[in-house]
Amino acid sequence: MTARHPDHAVDPQFPNRWSPRSFAQDSLTQAQVMQLLEAARWAPSASNHQPWRFAWSLRGDPAFAAIHDGLMGFNTVWAGRAAALIFIASKPHVEKEGQAAPNPWHAFDAGAAWMSLALQAQAMGLVAHAMGGFEADKLAPALGLPEGHVIHAVVAVGRQGNITDLPEKLQEREKPSPRRPVAELAGHKKFPG
Ligand SMILES: Cc1cc2nc3c(=O)[nH]c(=O)nc-3n(C[C@H](O)[C@H](O)[C@H](O)COP(=O)(O)O)c2cc1C
Repeated sequence: MTARHPDHAVDPQFPNRWSPRSFAQDSLTQAQVMQLLEAARWAPSASNHQPWRFAWSLRGDPAFAAIHDGLMGFNTVWAGRAAALIFIASKPHVEKEGQAAPNPWHAFDAGAAWMSLALQAQAMGLVAHAMGGFEADKLAPALGLPEGHVIHAVVAVGRQGNITDLPEKLQEREKPSPRRPVAELAGHKKFPG
């Protein structure tokens, strides 16, 4: 449970989800990763193009260290303890009558897939933490990113660990963050000013 207090009645899975950086040293099985990806698979997408693609690695895989090396800044401090790192990419174009046509919704759809994955992780007693801090140019070849795709994020997944496993600076940040009130985010008939 978190100390978050929603302004309106909402399923607790939403305020209860947050992004810890402390991970227990447990492993994930391939079957558990498949459960996470299965949830992502059922996300909605524009014209059901399902533009998302994933590359996953378990801690202990020979490739895991190379992937971890491609993370940036303080992500290298904590994400190496995660049980799995899952990259999410998508393709900005679709094939239409033999031509490449833009799919302006590819990133929106990949975001929906990430959220499904995160909520499935939570339902399995795990935590998921997305990161935008990685070196895409370095990782794309290592991950075999298909041509024309862009990597959006890498998600660290595992069982939440002890806050004391983190360096002091990160311990201070290891808590659920607040949100702007709905009234600031949404307006009746028009966007809020
Ligand atoms: C696309 C994306 C990129 C993010 N990049 C990073 C990152 O590089 N490092 C990090 O520690 N957290 C990262 N985060 C986590 C956010 O900071 C976090 O989700 C946000 O502060 C809201 O907190 P919560 O997820 O705990 O509710 C990222 C989250 C998203 C969705």
